[in-house]
Amino acid sequence: MNRTHARITASVYSSHVPAIGAALDLGKSGNEYWAPLFKGYDRSRQWMKENRPDVIFLVYNDHATAFDLNFIPTFAIGCAAEFQPADEGWGARPVPKVVGHPELASHIAQSVIQQDFDLTIVNKMDVDHGLTVPLSLMCGQPDAWPCPVIPFAVNVVQYPVPSGQRCFQLGQAIRRAIESYDQPLNVQIWGTGGMSHQLQGPRAGLINSEFDNAFLDQLISDPAAQARVPHIDYVREAGSEGIELVMWLIARGAMADVAGGPAPRLVHRFYHVPASNTAVGHMILEEQ
Ligand code: DHB
Ligand code: FE
Repeated sequence: MNRTHARITASVYSSHVPAIGAALDLGKSGNEYWAPLFKGYDRSRQWMKENRPDVIFLVYNDHATAFDLNFIPTFAIGCAAEFQPADEGWGARPVPKVVGHPELASHIAQSVIQQDFDLTIVNKMDVDHGLTVPLSLMCGQPDAWPCPVIPFAVNVVQYPVPSGQRCFQLGQAIRRAIESYDQPLNVQIWGTGGMSHQLQGPRAGLINSEFDNAFLDQLISDPAAQARVPHIDYVREAGSEGIELVMWLIARGAMADVAGGPAPRLVHRFYHVPASNTAVGHMILEEQ
């Protein structure tokens, strides 16, 4: 049967850390400190080559780069034709510009807003390490990213931030939006940020491997239960920046099993400490 509409083929989850981008850009990915981290993504880069999507819907957070305290959208969808890597203080990363998909992004905005989620439409924005580092980890250092990317920014920086439950429900709405797009595109949805880390205050440097691995277990097996976990648990157990993990629930909420379909297949799971101040977690779930 010829497909007429878009579908979600897989969800990908990955931490972001600016130092990972710097290690790659400065040619240090093979050294003693970084090699074990990048090794954990070897299989993923191969998988990306074999399962190249038409579009990546990339859920990430901006770190006061495109948005600042003047303007704090809870959920913002990038509808532009392209997005430039941001200057985060040491110049922009030497990575390709991000080519968007304005037609699909606009369709998703229309559908998701009609499903009662208030998205901010963004027609011009730069993208920081929250978006470019997961792309680098999954795609390496190509001259151009392998496909268009729709940036979807979530506020997990300035309180109040959205709950895990809200993120999980939003993922379900995004799935319905993608499946109602009348072009037969293969779309991956990525959830990024996390895992446990805290960058400031008396608990700076906090890592909680037990919490992180329990999160990964439950995200796979019972995402609805994970969605009920309140913020305070993330912040207490995984550190102030551990709250970035709620973004993974958007990608997980978009998988078929949440809509009554078959469970996804776990293709790859990886966990590594240390990477700068952050525990790095990574997972690929493929639709059956
Ligand atoms: C680090 C981690 C982050 O998530 C971030 O946005 C900035 C820095 C770190 O571990 O250094
Ligand atoms: Fe971050």
